[in-house]
Amino acid sequence: MHYSHIIASGAYLPERIMHNSELENLVETTDEWIRSRTGIRQRHIAREDETTSDMACNASLRAIDMAGIKPDSIDLIIVATSTPDLIYPSTACLLQKKLGLRNGSAAFDVQAVCSGFIYALSIADRFIRTGETRCALVIGADMNSRILDWTDRSTCVLFGDGAGAVILGSSAEPGIYRTLLHADGSYSDYLKVPSGVSGPTGEPFIRMRGNEVFKFAVQKMDEIVDETLDDSGLTKTDIDWLVPHQANQRIIAATVKKLGISMDDVILTVAEHGNTSAASIPLALDVGIRDGRIKRGDVILMEAVGGGFTWGSALLRY
Ligand code: UT7
Repeated sequence: MHYSHIIASGAYLPERIMHNSELENLVETTDEWIRSRTGIRQRHIAREDETTSDMACNASLRAIDMAGIKPDSIDLIIVATSTPDLIYPSTACLLQKKLGLRNGSAAFDVQAVCSGFIYALSIADRFIRTGETRCALVIGADMNSRILDWTDRSTCVLFGDGAGAVILGSSAEPGIYRTLLHADGSYSDYLKVPSGVSGPTGEPFIRMRGNEVFKFAVQKMDEIVDETLDDSGLTKTDIDWLVPHQANQRIIAATVKKLGISMDDVILTVAEHGNTSAASIPLALDVGIRDGRIKRGDVILMEAVGGGFTWGSALLRY
């Protein structure tokens, strides 16, 4: 029986930091409103000449370095993103080229917005469980600054750019106990970028019914805690770390209450990163691993909600 486990992580955040005070000059908002409604203090914004695959490459190189593996041993690359460099080739193929990998590894993108990393991790886990893949590079990367309407205060204060990566290997013990994936496309109008190729070609900006998204997120993140633990052989008290999608500190606080844990058991990066969509969970994971809080053997619950709506979770031992 094969299981997958996280061998290493890596992260990349663009150098430029945009504080809330800077947004006060762009739209009618205040640092106080943003902090109190979301927990966000700042976000990172990519340079004009940076792309999502550049960010993914930087995060991947750090993960490969931590893993101490030969890049050639990677036989699957999955990039979760909603902000690809191009319509095609996929960001994963562009990343493969930037990494100089010519070993024929499979490479593709997954699009599940803020749940994208959970989706990508779940797919990679299944590839490894079948024995088809031995070493997977799984990335969440998003350049939200390119799809923000910088005159819309209800969205532009919320998002940031970044990339996070993990290397998944094969093991005899879990590793990943289980992943759950869900979607309900009837909510497609609640959070969207209403511009595309075969559909409307309007302004490519994030449009969100924030309050309704908020309520849905709180409800689903609450439900998925029990669903994830059911039949897993683990209970709430086994969870050492919650590594949630970082959209809003108040949504995370609701999950913390449900789990009966303390905010000290959460890797919280929303204040520094804002909402980085698919990147937020692997970015937070990397922070927790590198600062020494997450240790080998710790049990981690990851969960996310995103446009679609999509939502999902992963329960794993690091
Ligand atoms: O990552 C995918 C999932 N995304 C999320 O999970 C985001 C979910 N939504 C949220 O985090 C919250 O709904 C927001 C932070 C977006 C908004 O917080 P809220 O408590 O739901 O506020 P609201 O939308 O009900 O708006 C309250 C008021 C409104 O004014 P009125 O109509 O009451 O006069 C807004 O116009 O706050 C106003 N407002 C702002 N005021 C100052 C909205 N954005 C801003 C702003 N600065 N940036």
